[in-house]
Amino acid sequence: MAREDPESRGYPGDPMDLSLEWLPGGVNQCLMTLSTLDAAGAPDSRTMLLSEVTRDGFFFHTDALSNKCAQIAADARVTLTILLAEQGRQLVVQGTAEPADAREVAQAYRDRGPYLQQLAWMNTDEFAALDDASRVTQWAQLATDHTAGFTPPATWTGYVVRPRRLRFWEGAVDTASRRVEYVATDGSWETSFRAG
Ligand SMILES: Cc1cc2nc3c(=O)[nH]c(=O)nc-3n(C[C@H](O)[C@H](O)[C@H](O)COP(=O)(O)O)c2cc1C
Repeated sequence: MAREDPESRGYPGDPMDLSLEWLPGGVNQCLMTLSTLDAAGAPDSRTMLLSEVTRDGFFFHTDALSNKCAQIAADARVTLTILLAEQGRQLVVQGTAEPADAREVAQAYRDRGPYLQQLAWMNTDEFAALDDASRVTQWAQLATDHTAGFTPPATWTGYVVRPRRLRFWEGAVDTASRRVEYVATDGSWETSFRAG
């Protein structure tokens, strides 16, 4: 595995520059798989919206009572798998999930559309257990009661994933796929080119 100066090959030295170049602008536009470790140490995964990427890291938002939050509280190591199928790219980020600050979490709620804002209130096991007709009528009633919009429920929360290792995979039609890997080492990034 060759260690390289990425800039001599046209790649930035800071992987967040490449993340910002690869990922779509704006918010709530990209899906990813968030992997955590469960209480037995087994991997657990689910699809999530990648809410935002900044120089601070990768943000996602969820319900504080969800399994993933309990898992992160016990072990904050996570992996994000971001597939950009149309571009023939994949970004896999290993890192640590930290609570996002309150202002960012509130802004992320404002950035969600009306359906997802209401879902944050009604996404409970109690609601899931209702019969279908009750789920529809109660949903419609809450929407009618909140035509002016929703404020975030107390359980609305968010995390920022601070990366430790990032692997940027790119496909090609005229040569082999390849990954560029960045690993945090002693305050800087070590880069290598890996088989796809
Ligand atoms: C397309 C899609 C997007 C989703 N986005 C989110 C999200 O941004 N936040 C979230 O909490 N759950 C989201 N979910 C639901 C999660 O996949 C998951 O079912 C839920 O968060 C409960 O996960 P947990 O029990 O592992 O904590 C999404 C599901 C799908 C299919």
